[in-house]
Amino acid sequence: MTGLKSLLALYFIAGVQAQSSTASAASCSSTIAPAHGQPSVAAGWQVNVVASGLRDPRGILFDGEGHLLVVQQGYGISSLELTDDAGACVRATGDPTDIIVDESLNHGIELSADGRTLYASSPDAVHAWDYDASQTRNTSGPREVIGQMGASDGHVTRTLLLSKKVDGMLLVSRGSMSNLDPSAQDISTGVSTIKAFNISNNTDSSYNYAEDGLLLGWGLRNSVGVAEDPATGGIYSVENSVDNFEREGQNIHQNNPGEEMNFHGYLNGTQTEEQGKNYGYPSCFAAWNVSTIPQNEGIQVGTQFAIGDQNATINDTYCQNDHVPPRLTFAAHMAPLDIKFNDNATAAWVSFHGSWRPIGYKLSVIGFENGSPTESANSSTAAIDIVSNPDLSQCPDNCFRPVGLAWDSQGRLFMSSDSTGEIYVVVRTDGGSANEASPSSGLPPSATGAAPSASSSGSAPREFKVSQFAAVFAGILALPLV
Ligand SMILES: *[C@@H]1O[C@H](CO)[C@@H](O)[C@H](O)[C@H]1NC(C)=O
Ligand SMILES: *[C@@H]1O[C@H](CO)[C@@H](O)[C@H](O)[C@H]1NC(C)=O
Ligand SMILES: *[C@@H]1O[C@H](CO)[C@@H](O)[C@H](O)[C@H]1NC(C)=O
Ligand SMILES: *[C@@H]1O[C@H](CO)[C@@H](O)[C@H](O)[C@H]1NC(C)=O
Ligand SMILES: *[C@@H]1O[C@H](CO)[C@@H](O)[C@H](O)[C@H]1NC(C)=O
Ligand SMILES: *[C@@H]1O[C@H](CO)[C@@H](O)[C@H](O)[C@H]1NC(C)=O
Ligand SMILES: *[C@@H]1O[C@H](CO)[C@@H](O)[C@H](O)[C@H]1NC(C)=O
Ligand SMILES: *[C@@H]1O[C@H](CO)[C@@H](O)[C@H](O)[C@H]1NC(C)=O
Ligand SMILES: *[C@@H]1O[C@H](CO)[C@@H](O)[C@H](O)[C@H]1NC(C)=O
Repeated sequence: MTGLKSLLALYFIAGVQAQSSTASAASCSSTIAPAHGQPSVAAGWQVNVVASGLRDPRGILFDGEGHLLVVQQGYGISSLELTDDAGACVRATGDPTDIIVDESLNHGIELSADGRTLYASSPDAVHAWDYDASQTRNTSGPREVIGQMGASDGHVTRTLLLSKKVDGMLLVSRGSMSNLDPSAQDISTGVSTIKAFNISNNTDSSYNYAEDGLLLGWGLRNSVGVAEDPATGGIYSVENSVDNFEREGQNIHQNNPGEEMNFHGYLNGTQTEEQGKNYGYPSCFAAWNVSTIPQNEGIQVGTQFAIGDQNATINDTYCQNDHVPPRLTFAAHMAPLDIKFNDNATAAWVSFHGSWRPIGYKLSVIGFENGSPTESANSSTAAIDIVSNPDLSQCPDNCFRPVGLAWDSQGRLFMSSDSTGEIYVVVRTDGGSANEASPSSGLPPSATGAAPSASSSGSAPREFKVSQFAAVFAGILALPLV
């Protein structure tokens, strides 16, 4: 009851703030037109473009001085200075300032808890620089922290995440070298794994990715998004599953297998049955569209199942008994690239980059409670869409493609789109903190379960205008480089 009262009080305060710091796009002193028209936004939410003209913006984060640091894939790390007129009225001022110009940097970025060490990844290594936020620049040359992460083949991003719960643990995710990569079956290769490295004790030497570190999971095709539940310290990842999928010789790749959200246990030393185990790839996959799967008895959404004719050992029983199933499954080809919890651990936001199939291309939110998703593992409706492209038939060419997510100090959510070179800000139209919104407490005001709509002004508070706003082993196609 007390919790509810304080929540209500919060809404009240937020409402008062909203009146003084109006969030309507129309009232911003200057705005940037989205590259492909206004996104569709769920009722109660608003998005604006914060910056445009960037080169393949991927990982983003805020430094201690409020600069938005952006990895421009194939260019390096740059900083954006923001002019903040409150709410959605925030935009980059002037050109980005280059911090690290290095074309090998392509996605991963992190800052130490004290903000004084900057980390970034190339396909082969994780580098660290001393960083001074007040000057927005590195004050040392690069040190290699982790190396030998593999060739620049196939999936080349190496997502970085520093634990906020266990000091010095740097998580690194490495994907496969091809669509269905046999080397992922050999645990010693480090292919298709997520690992954690204690970087508080390495000085001159760098870790060897495949040989060192704590294995959080293997058999993970390409888990680009990695996050730590701020309440429990639980590690979750979102995985881009296989393309061109066949079962019993039948091609069912349009709607299968599903993309996965996986749980990898904790970093604090407490063992869980999941940690370090095999999550399936390249032998076992999660069902999405059960009706199109041949011999689907006993299979529901999220059930691990086998390709079928791979060999006598790898059958559905093997997949279900010896592999960690996903906590949630998303539609095939949605291509989740980032996951960020809110501070309360009541919501996890996921960016879906989309793929060759016109599906994904949106930002969604998932309810969490007590360290787990609120929906059961067989749910097909766990992800609630907040920002999406209005016409998927226009994708990929004329769509924004969500990649990196970052919270600012005021609880606004920032999102990069590599295809359009943009950064978006996502806020609530009622002035409340986006960070405090969760599906379980009713996303404002009626987004739960509702399909995103381009004209959702009906349920929004009147004074705030709602913006209109991928034999299978041989079949390696062009790899979707997400
Ligand atoms: C900053 O990093 C770049 C690229 O790694 C390096 O060339 C430069 O010397 C560094 N700056 C300082 C002040 O050490
Ligand atoms: C990391 O290394 C430091 C220094 O050796 C040590 O104090 C700390 O306990 C280690 N952390 C973990 C999680 O193993
Ligand atoms: C650093 O810590 C890790 C994890 O605790 C340990 O495996 C490794 O041996 C340590 N390295 C050094 C140089 O102390
Ligand atoms: C590690 O974290 C889990 C989940 O928060 C908790 O249940 C467990 O007690 C913790 N273990 C230690 C050694 O702190
Ligand atoms: C499953 O696939 C069938 C056949 O392609 C399609 O009609 C149906 O809409 C799909 N269902 C889902 C949930 O994707
Ligand atoms: C089945 O395939 C897996 C993966 O390729 C392999 O590890 C295993 O040895 C094979 N088993 C048989 C009986 O061929
Ligand atoms: C899978 O293979 C095992 C061992 O060969 C067998 O016991 C089991 O019944 C098989 N499962 C299916 C679903 O065919
Ligand atoms: C969420 O966090 C805020 C503080 O940021 C707190 O006041 C509120 O009670 C929390 N809500 C829930 C549901 O835990
Ligand atoms: C989904 O899982 C829940 C919880 O495990 C179970 O109660 C329910 O029957 C399942 N639904 C279907 C359609 O199999």
